[in-house]
Amino acid sequence: MCGRYPPANMSTAAANRQYFDAITDTYDSKPFFAKVNQEVTDDLRNRLDWIGIPFANIESSSDTQTVRQLDYACGTGLMSRVFGPYVTETRGIDVSPNMVAAYNARARAAGLSDSIINAVVGDLFDRDNPTPTGAEWDGFDLATASFAFHHFEDVVHAAKCLKERLRPGGVLMINDFLEGGDLKADENGEPIEGTEGSWHHHHSHHGHGHGHGHGHGHGHGHANKEHGHEHHEPMKVEDEPGWDRAKMSASIVVPSFTVDGVKKFFTDAGLVDVDVVTMEKRVYMEFGGQKLWRTILFARGRRALEAKSEL
Ligand SMILES: C[S@@+](CC[C@H](N)C(=O)[O-])C[C@H]1O[C@@H](n2cnc3c(N)ncnc32)[C@H](O)[C@@H]1O
Repeated sequence: MCGRYPPANMSTAAANRQYFDAITDTYDSKPFFAKVNQEVTDDLRNRLDWIGIPFANIESSSDTQTVRQLDYACGTGLMSRVFGPYVTETRGIDVSPNMVAAYNARARAAGLSDSIINAVVGDLFDRDNPTPTGAEWDGFDLATASFAFHHFEDVVHAAKCLKERLRPGGVLMINDFLEGGDLKADENGEPIEGTEGSWHHHHSHHGHGHGHGHGHGHGHGHANKEHGHEHHEPMKVEDEPGWDRAKMSASIVVPSFTVDGVKKFFTDAGLVDVDVVTMEKRVYMEFGGQKLWRTILFARGRRALEAKSEL
């Protein structure tokens, strides 16, 4: 690889598109990742009341209720699967075309039509040309962004843009990693007591500094390819040593957030009824040869009801 990655003029969104396009096929195929996703799913489904919108297909729902979810930075669709049983329509957006293709392929394979669930390529945070637009992409009851905010250049702007796609009273729910919530694991994956901290290595070449109570200097990526390949295919550009690590790093802005940091950027974005909770048990993850137990946080904030509808 010649020169530094990313090039100086590459946006974080473009770095994300390139990185996630390259790793879509292996993104969530590792067994540890399936376990993390199951743990997140179980935890969230036990917290439907905490999320605080009227869901469909639960005891208190009416038959005519519609519940629309926006799954932002949807990837292969973790949050769409988590909430699928409790919503009537799901719309996904991701900056990576390959992730969007994988998302839609999985939905169709599950026998779901595109009127029920569909994703498109877009970037709501692009200040010149936010996409997609139109009624289909507005007025959501629930917006989710899972393992995504640490990839966003400006978290206040991001939360604001997502808030604007909610109906008044709608809720934004995100998950991400808790700063200082890691434990190192030994080679068998067993947690090493007394190693609490922020351990994921991260060396971003982007100059980020949005100061919302989270530290810099560590990183996270949950599906980067290992350097050693067991199969013997011709080397592709992305197989060059160093490619994956640089690409992964360039896609990440910060590795993790504090509870107060998330509360602050939700509040700064104008969300109300803000709450942040952490998962009781750490989850086991591997990336770039590192084995860690990490703490996941969930945050919720509501778009205020407009003054007139409160009268
Ligand atoms: C770590 S993955 C998470 C995917 C999925 N939400 C999940 O929980 O498995 C992060 C995703 O964010 C997407 N992404 C990054 N920046 C984005 C942006 N500005 N707009 C839309 N999607 C973005 C990436 O393409 C990638 O699919």
